[in-house]
Amino acid sequence: MNEAKQEPLRWYALCTAGALDNAAIHRTELAGVGLVVWRADDGRVNVWEDRCPHRGVRLSLGHHRGDTLQCQYHGWQFASGEGACRMVPAHPQASAPPIRVSTWPAIERHGFVWTCRTAHGETPALPEIDSFEGVTANACAPLRSTTIDADLASVQRALLAYVLPNADAAECAAFEGECETLTVESLDGAAASAIFVLQPVHAGKTRVHGIVPGDFDAAQRLALQRAHQTRLNALRDALEAMAVVATETSAESEAVFRFAEAPASARIAPIAQPLVRMDIAPRTPVQSAPQTTQPGDDEERAFTVHLARSGGSVEVPAHTSLLDALRAQGVDVPTSCEQGVCGTCLTPVLDGEPLHRDAWLDNRERAANDCMLVCVSRARTPTLTLDL
Ligand code: FES
Repeated sequence: MNEAKQEPLRWYALCTAGALDNAAIHRTELAGVGLVVWRADDGRVNVWEDRCPHRGVRLSLGHHRGDTLQCQYHGWQFASGEGACRMVPAHPQASAPPIRVSTWPAIERHGFVWTCRTAHGETPALPEIDSFEGVTANACAPLRSTTIDADLASVQRALLAYVLPNADAAECAAFEGECETLTVESLDGAAASAIFVLQPVHAGKTRVHGIVPGDFDAAQRLALQRAHQTRLNALRDALEAMAVVATETSAESEAVFRFAEAPASARIAPIAQPLVRMDIAPRTPVQSAPQTTQPGDDEERAFTVHLARSGGSVEVPAHTSLLDALRAQGVDVPTSCEQGVCGTCLTPVLDGEPLHRDAWLDNRERAANDCMLVCVSRARTPTLTLDL
């Protein structure tokens, strides 16, 4: 009998602690789940699902109110910690409804904010991370987080061959799988080491957070940050320009996975030669869609919408919203805000290219062009086919 494979619960870094300074609200994604990260005025860090439990608007579009996060749509405020609704501005005298945000575990340690999926109410403890022994948020230079359009395994392989700035001698790299942490050290100690933590954003996208442990003055810190950024940018460009061919049956690849699973005492091992060879092939050039409109003339042009389920078509005149045109033809689409912020009118697109004008979809969802918010968005192509 096949047993479902149980994915281990792991802690992942979502951002550096400094990313939450000055009441910043940080939006991110972990394995395809949108998350909002923020720090209340009392210092507590919160990791919440990026979705208002009232109408589904992204909370990351909202406002920091000291010890609450306020949804920008109806102004409902949710309290730091449990995420319970504390106030509904439209009914200030009434007690708040028993509704709460979906919260995730949040720990601030080693200069990063970490979270972990919870299963059956259980959350594993954040493991001791060998690489971070003795490292504090004040004794390191944080690097700018870099997002790479490549899967986590490819980024990990590339980082195992990372070259430290000012490293004259051979380097070693160690990967600690239970927290996706990778350390690069120079063997003679001449160059400052670097610790990278990988965040699987979603399939094919990985975010690399990093720090350089040590006490540095401002000039040293800036020089280190610049040097690492140049290297990380080059690594990102190389990975994104190439399609990595899986080499999981190759001896080199097996060496990597054995290395990753080695006991802690054996994790730091000198690497005389690069551990991995990446077999790479040029990515097939993406055919750009034919230009059907001139820039600037598609904002208000008329277009036709084909309705896949009902079989009809709707003409959308210039300066008429798609939602109004659909309603005029008796096509019912559920809506709430009608301003492109709540996501209620999300509709699958089967053909054609939408002109997105909402504040709800993220960049990846926009680029996919397989759904749209019909209350505010229009069409780039002369026709759209919607799943209506
Ligand atoms: S996004 Fe709210 S109704 Fe369209």
